Amino acid sequence: MRSNGDRWDITTSVGATALAVAAARAVEGRHPDPLVEDPYAQAFVDRAGLDVKLPGTPTADADSEGTWQAMSTYMGVRSRFFDEFFTDAAGDGVRQVVILAAGLDARAFRLVWPDAVTVYEVDQDAVLEFKDRVLDEQSAHATVRRVPVTVDLRDDWPAALTAAGFDPSVPTAWLAEGLLPYLPAEAEDLLFERVQQLSAPGSRIAVEHFAAASTMTADHPRFRGMQQALGLEISELFYPEARGRTPEVHLSELGWKALATSAKDLAVAYGRPLDDDTLEAMGRVELLEAVRL
Ligand SMILES: C[S@@+](CC[C@H](N)C(=O)[O-])C[C@H]1O[C@@H](n2cnc3c(N)ncnc32)[C@H](O)[C@@H]1O
Repeated sequence: MRSNGDRWDITTSVGATALAVAAARAVEGRHPDPLVEDPYAQAFVDRAGLDVKLPGTPTADADSEGTWQAMSTYMGVRSRFFDEFFTDAAGDGVRQVVILAAGLDARAFRLVWPDAVTVYEVDQDAVLEFKDRVLDEQSAHATVRRVPVTVDLRDDWPAALTAAGFDPSVPTAWLAEGLLPYLPAEAEDLLFERVQQLSAPGSRIAVEHFAAASTMTADHPRFRGMQQALGLEISELFYPEARGRTPEVHLSELGWKALATSAKDLAVAYGRPLDDDTLEAMGRVELLEAVRL
């Protein structure tokens, strides 16, 4: 159960979900034609010391194999989509990037960025400390100017971001991947309003939207094995209240031009369709891009 101001590290509560998606990226990286190659994903999993029985590792477990394969395919789809979002934004001249709830996202280390780009990574302190420790141990070098910003996204994060050097007068590419269900509805609304206030014309945002997050049952067989391995009850980490409107509608109301694509269609377009069980377990998921006019 969630509470105001709750905090976590990388193996507890919402922090462990960052580890789960890193684990999924590690699995996807072992696919013959991977949608994402994240050279640090396995190191995060190993360093956290969790006994996750991932496909392709010596402890692989046939029971949870289907779950991990399905989840890693979906994580590959969303990673690819958001990687392309950033590559396009940088190609169009955007030089400021903010990854909200960055978790163990290694885009600042694995994507090729033009000179003069700054990537701000926003998350809770224990998550970013763990991430930095592992990346240091791996002798990882950022491919861009990277600025970690430790703050809770239910608090005054614009103040922390600005104090870290963020410049609201230039266009920004924002990302909210794997975030919205972990925010109270009010904080989600406020998040988009604050993004709006901080975004110069030409800014863009990419968002992952779980339409069924408030009703999703984590008891679906697709999720059970993985949750047991991680010691997590994902639906207990979601704020269950219904959201007043979708991100697409909200951003449109705020004057952005938004386009949502279903994860199901994207997976087909990438040549890696999601199976019916996975689609049923996830409910409708949309990946959205929007531009501030
Ligand atoms: C599912 S993970 C996604 C991480 C990353 N975006 C990715 O896709 O790899 C969720 C992340 O959201 C962060 N998060 C959730 N609620 C937050 C909050 N209120 N403040 C700061 N970070 C938050 C967690 O710490 C965690 O890193």
